[in-house]
Amino acid sequence: MKVAVVAAEMAPYAKAGGLADVIGALPVELAACGARVCVVIPGYKCALDALPTVEVGDESSVMVGHRREHFRVRSGVGPGGVPIFLIAHDGYFARAGIYGENGRDYPDAIERYVFFARAAARLLGEVIRPDLVHAHDWHAAVLPILMRADPMLRACFERTACLFTIHNLAFQGLCDAADFALLNIDRSYMTTEYLEFHGRMNLMKGAVVLADGVSTVSPTYAREVSSDPAFGFGLEGVLRAKGERFVGILNGADYNEWNPATDPHIAARYTPQDTSGKTLCARALRRRIGLAARSKRALMGMVSRLTAQKGFDLLVPALEQLLELEVDLVILGSGEPEFEDALLAAHRAHPDRVAVSTAFDNDLAHQIQAGCDMFLMPSRFEPCGLTQMYALKYGTAPVVRATGGLADTVAEFEPASGVGNGFVFQAYEVEEMLGAIRRALRVFRDRAVWRRLMANCFAADFSWAAAAARYLELYNQLIAERARNLQ
Ligand code: ADP
Ligand code: GLC
Repeated sequence: MKVAVVAAEMAPYAKAGGLADVIGALPVELAACGARVCVVIPGYKCALDALPTVEVGDESSVMVGHRREHFRVRSGVGPGGVPIFLIAHDGYFARAGIYGENGRDYPDAIERYVFFARAAARLLGEVIRPDLVHAHDWHAAVLPILMRADPMLRACFERTACLFTIHNLAFQGLCDAADFALLNIDRSYMTTEYLEFHGRMNLMKGAVVLADGVSTVSPTYAREVSSDPAFGFGLEGVLRAKGERFVGILNGADYNEWNPATDPHIAARYTPQDTSGKTLCARALRRRIGLAARSKRALMGMVSRLTAQKGFDLLVPALEQLLELEVDLVILGSGEPEFEDALLAAHRAHPDRVAVSTAFDNDLAHQIQAGCDMFLMPSRFEPCGLTQMYALKYGTAPVVRATGGLADTVAEFEPASGVGNGFVFQAYEVEEMLGAIRRALRVFRDRAVWRRLMANCFAADFSWAAAAARYLELYNQLIAERARNLQ
C-alpha cells in the first residue's frame, strides 16, 4: 500500500504544535508496519534549513486563481527512512515563520495553502501516485476538495482513496467567499452542500464533505464535535452526516522523542525502576527557571499554546487562589498577548513561586516534563493533547479537565484502591480546577501513595503502534470501497 501524508507541519523540521509531532511519528510507524509512505509538507525556510534535500524533477507551475505560480520540489529522508517532499516557493514559504511572525499570522494564509494543495496534487498525480492520500487539518483541506471537484484531478485520482484528519475544529480555513476564485473549480461547489458556510468559504467543510473518510484524533472528541456546537463550531451537522465514515482514532506519543530513559535534553536520565534522576531533573529545572532548587512545595508545569482552548481564561483568574496552595508553577507557552501579559505579571508579583517563559523552546519543554511533579491541562476543549501523554511517560501526574483526548487518557487516581493516573475535573470552573489541584496536593504529601500514582503514570502506554494499526485498517477499508465504487 502506498500512502502520501500531506500536512502543514512535521517535527522536527517545522513545528508549531501537536500536529507536527503526529506527522513526525505516524509515518514512521506506518512504514514499520509495511506501508510505503511518504510525507508532503511546504518547503518553509526552517524545514529546508533543517533537512538536507535534493531537487526532484524540473520547475513546475500551477494556477492559483488567475496567477500562474512556479515552484520546485525538493526531497529528503526523515526518521525511519521515510521520504519527505517539500514544495518550495520563494514567495509563499521562504519566510521566517511557519504561520506568521511576531505573534501575527501571515495575511495570505488561504492563498498559501491553496497553492500548497495545488502543487501537492501535481506531485502526487505525476510522481508519487499513491493508493491513498491522508490530508491533515485545514491547511491540507484543499487537496481532498481538488481530488474530487477539479475535473482533471478527479480523473487522475479516480482510484486514489482520501482520508481527511481533523486535529482541531477551531481552525477551519474560514475565509471570504471571494477567495473561492483561488480554487479554480466549478461555482456549483460554492453552495451550502459543499464549501459555503454562512456566506463565507469554509475549506474544512469542503474536505469533510468530499473526502472518502474523515477522522479526528480521539474518540471522545469525535463524539463531542458531532453532537455539541460548542465543540463542532458549526460543523457538527456535516460531521454527523458522514455517519460511520467519521471516526476518532487516539494519537500516539512518540517515545523515541519523549522518554526519560533516553532523553538528551534533561539533566539526568531515569526509569520507572530508578527515579533518582527525576529529583536531579527537578533541581536543575528549578535552578534554570529561577525558583529555589529545593522546596517542599510541589512543582506544577504547563507547556502550551496560550489560547482560550488551553484553559488560560480559567487559570489566570485562579492564580492568586492557586498560590495559596503548596505549589509552585512553571509555564512555557506563547500565544495571545493578554495571556502572556497576565502570566508575566503573575511572575513579577511572585518571582519565587511562578516562572514563565514565552519562548518556543523544545529543550525546556522536555525539562518541564521531567522536572515537575504535576502537569496541568485545564483545556476548554482538547482534540487529543499530547503533552499529558508525555507527562505520564515522565512520571509527572496530569491534572486535566475531562474533555476530548484528555478524557481518553487520564483517569482520576483513587488513593484507597491505588487505581488511576492523574486528577480529573469536569465542569469548566475555577473551583473545579482548584479542587483537582487540591486532591493532587493531598496525595503528594503522602510519598508512598504518590509513588503508587507515579507507577501508574509510567505504566500508561500510548505508543504509536496501536494508532498506526487502526489507520492501516481504515486505509484498507477506504481503498477497497473506492475500488468497489468504480466497478
Ligand atoms: P496543541 O497541538 O493543541 O498545541 P498538543 O498537546 O497536541 O497541543 O501538542 C503540543 C506540542 O507542542 C507538544 O510537543 C509541546 O511540547 C509543544 N509545545 C507547545 N508550546 C511549546 C513551547 N512554547 N515551546 C516548546 N514546545 C511547545
Ligand atoms: C491539535 C490539537 C491537539 C492535538 C494535536 C495533534 O493541535 O489541539 O489536541 O493533540 O492537534 O493531533
